[in-house]
Amino acid sequence: MSNQMWGGRFQSGPDAIMEDINASIEFDKALWRQDIAGSKAHVAMLGKQGIIEAKDAEEIAKGLDKVAQEIESGTFTFSRALEDIHMNIESRLADLIGAAAGRLHTARSRNDQVATDMRLWVRDTLDALDLQMADLQHALAEKALDYADAVMPGFTHLQSAQPVTFGHHLLAYVEMIGRDRGRVKDARKRMNENPLGAAALAGTSFPIDRAMTAKTLGFDRPTANSLDSVSDRDFVLEALSAASICAMHLSRFAEEIVIWTTPQFGLVALSDKFTTGSSIMPQKRNPDAAELVRAKSGRIIGALTSLLIVMKGLPLTYAKDMQEDKEGTFDALSSLSLCLAAMSGMVRDMTPDRKAMKKAAGSGYATATDLADWLVRTLKMPFRNAHHVTGKIVGLAAAKKIGLEKLTLAEMQSVEPKISADVFTVLGVEKSVRSRVSFGGTAPSNVKREARRWLSLLKRKAS
Ligand code: ARG
Repeated sequence: MSNQMWGGRFQSGPDAIMEDINASIEFDKALWRQDIAGSKAHVAMLGKQGIIEAKDAEEIAKGLDKVAQEIESGTFTFSRALEDIHMNIESRLADLIGAAAGRLHTARSRNDQVATDMRLWVRDTLDALDLQMADLQHALAEKALDYADAVMPGFTHLQSAQPVTFGHHLLAYVEMIGRDRGRVKDARKRMNENPLGAAALAGTSFPIDRAMTAKTLGFDRPTANSLDSVSDRDFVLEALSAASICAMHLSRFAEEIVIWTTPQFGLVALSDKFTTGSSIMPQKRNPDAAELVRAKSGRIIGALTSLLIVMKGLPLTYAKDMQEDKEGTFDALSSLSLCLAAMSGMVRDMTPDRKAMKKAAGSGYATATDLADWLVRTLKMPFRNAHHVTGKIVGLAAAKKIGLEKLTLAEMQSVEPKISADVFTVLGVEKSVRSRVSFGGTAPSNVKREARRWLSLLKRKAS
């Protein structure tokens, strides 16, 4: 049997393999809410414009509500022979209300229909992701306030560089997630236009009101060019690109959690809630959630590259290739949602070890820059000379296998006679971080202020 929706000029049905490659219902059924919302907006507009009779419009709207109930309650039977969500819904509508159902597809095509459904889905999903990102920022800022003065090693090249505070480190991620949210907001704003009414590609001869359907569906305005309306998937790409950058940030943080929680680093502990044990090594506590957040960035970034590749060779306008935008996008955005939830959970669950952090902060001569700065400030030495003198003093301490603050004044003076006992006021890790009061610096006073600023900003947005 040929397809009941478009099979007029077909004598036989598709080959089984054709059905396999063509059907999208298994994944695009996720769009059912959006599809019904789009159809209801369309049919209300058709009725109001007198394109179809008011009683048909009413019957169709009621029928669509009934279909929605069936899908919601799980009694709806999805059919692969009907290819996709659009035709599954329309066919069921015909079962329920009869001939009037055939009028729903007036002045529209599956091309503008799917573009509309997908925009609605991506838009609503971005809104939900933004809330989760805000929640992660909140978890980070709260922990940052609690640990505003906890000294830890700051790294470059993963080598001890200078002491920083744990709160400062967490606030770095609050900034990153803040930019991620900015990208989501931009993408949302740009995509919030209504493609419905572009029809197959050229627009329609019926007197439709696209501003009306735009308003009903919460779009800011109708899209301006019918060809662009059905062939544009920029909005999916922008969402995936914002998601990829966010996933990359989460992956970096996850990598840090993996490092910090190894017994060799031992800077942070996770509880039973976000770790797993080993079936053979009883001592193990593995940071699986962090590892999976790190790994899932792969499929999120993969969805972006995959869709870029699908789109780059397509002549205008619609081509079936574009059906491939869905599985990757659904998977990527739901993976990101899971990663954000896991990250917020881990941040709230983690216990930094203040003592271990402080000890590690002092290792690797992390206060050498403080010594060099002291030479510049107190002895008015040019920084390059101070760097050289400090290097020599570090060499002396390293040869004795002791910290800089453990050297005697006489030992330091053997390198630079003008050094006075005042130098010891800058050599501890706590003194070091307290001195970093420059704007954006790691001083606990800065960190407290910033954490509080973020917390009140986040609270204000939520209310
Ligand atoms: N399932 C299709 C998709 O996702 C719907 C649009 C089909 N349009 C068409 N002209 N075959 O892209």
